[in-house]
Amino acid sequence: MSYKSIRGMEDILPQDAGVWQELERRSRAELESYGYREIRTPMLEETAVFIRSIGETTDIVTKEMYTFSDRKERSLTLRPEGTAPIVRSYIEHSLDKVSPELRLYYIGPMFRAERPQKGRSRQFHQVGVEVIGSRSPQVDAEAIMRLDGLLRAFGLEGFVIKLNSLGCRKDKDAFAEKLKAYLKGEKSRLCDDCKTRLDKNVLRVLDCKNETCVQLVRNAPNVIDSLCAECAAHFSRVRQILEALKIEVDIAKNLVRGLDYYTGTVFEVTHPALGGQDAIAAGGRYDNLIKDMGGPDTGAIGFALGIERVILALGEKKGSFTRPAVIYIATLGEEAKVEGLKLAEELRSKLNDLHEVNVVTLIDLKESSLKSQMRSADKNGAKAVVIMGEDEMRQGKLAIKDMAEGGEQVLIDRTAVVEEIKKRIC
Ligand code: HAM
Repeated sequence: MSYKSIRGMEDILPQDAGVWQELERRSRAELESYGYREIRTPMLEETAVFIRSIGETTDIVTKEMYTFSDRKERSLTLRPEGTAPIVRSYIEHSLDKVSPELRLYYIGPMFRAERPQKGRSRQFHQVGVEVIGSRSPQVDAEAIMRLDGLLRAFGLEGFVIKLNSLGCRKDKDAFAEKLKAYLKGEKSRLCDDCKTRLDKNVLRVLDCKNETCVQLVRNAPNVIDSLCAECAAHFSRVRQILEALKIEVDIAKNLVRGLDYYTGTVFEVTHPALGGQDAIAAGGRYDNLIKDMGGPDTGAIGFALGIERVILALGEKKGSFTRPAVIYIATLGEEAKVEGLKLAEELRSKLNDLHEVNVVTLIDLKESSLKSQMRSADKNGAKAVVIMGEDEMRQGKLAIKDMAEGGEQVLIDRTAVVEEIKKRIC
């Protein structure tokens, strides 16, 4: 009998975890430096939290949620996204009292029972941001700037930010009617999914990937032309600010997003390296959601990026993420092992604390030959190996071997070891 992880839910193995840690570290550093604070909500919520916010007729709610009854027959759902739980928490804990304009971020797994393929999994991970408490267009521009900055902090280039506005709820409803009327005559030509969408969630027809549907909506009315004066002014201000900030965006008139809570500004970031599942991040305003879920009448905007997709988009670049330097301590003989343990402590405390470099020391505590210890050092990507043999130790010496190609081996005084290692890693 052999067990496997559940389809679409993957292990992050030790050889890959470094990239994840670095992405998470950079996200925290970047967001915290702009005053965002972390929020961690549970993985499970009452199902109603998601139905109410994401929308009864959306793909996520109708087909993709992991929903089950617990022992008390309560319907619970593994979070498919982070916004709804945060709004639930914001209201439950009256976070509006903490700050009238709250900047939050979260990092963690989300769950959607979609068909797994490259860039699409059932357990995936997001870095997300929510700014709650303002309806100002300034905040929209700032959120988009933050997303742009975050992706750049990862070293990502070549991504495209697509921007649209859905208008207020009135605009959105009026536009839905207009679109429905336009598409009604073409119903027979729409794909099966869109036939259902026509009655239940007509805006989604606009981002259907089916060729015929794409053709049919090409000349359909677009939402930007249907905005009320206030929403049109808001959108134009957002664009002006982004221009002043030199953040390039493409206006995407058919961008509607798959979650019902959005109103006003919506955006999506795509990357050419991704093929079919090309959205690496997405977000928008949800000015009615907090009130609809029983909270104060306040505006909010946010976004989330998919970590798996960012890693795919980074491709080879992720190799350049700085990792801690590995120093391998090879020891020969009983006494050397004890001295090796002492040296490992010394290197870590002196180098990591005093010189702000990140060093990992590895030491062999078996009776392995020097050859096999060198092999192990190589496998672990060591920058240098400290070789401690008993004869040399008796003379107060040890050897350091550089692991770079053509790296030499030198015999040095035991007392010089910290300085010598420092030279090799800084
Ligand atoms: P979303 O567009 O559903 O928005 O997801 C955001 C990002 O998560 C996507 O652009 C994609 O990178 C990633 N993602 C989504 N589903 C999968 C999947 N099955 N496999 C891998 N990656 C995936 C939201 O979740 C909103 N809560 C974003 C938001 C925050 N809006 C306002 N605030």
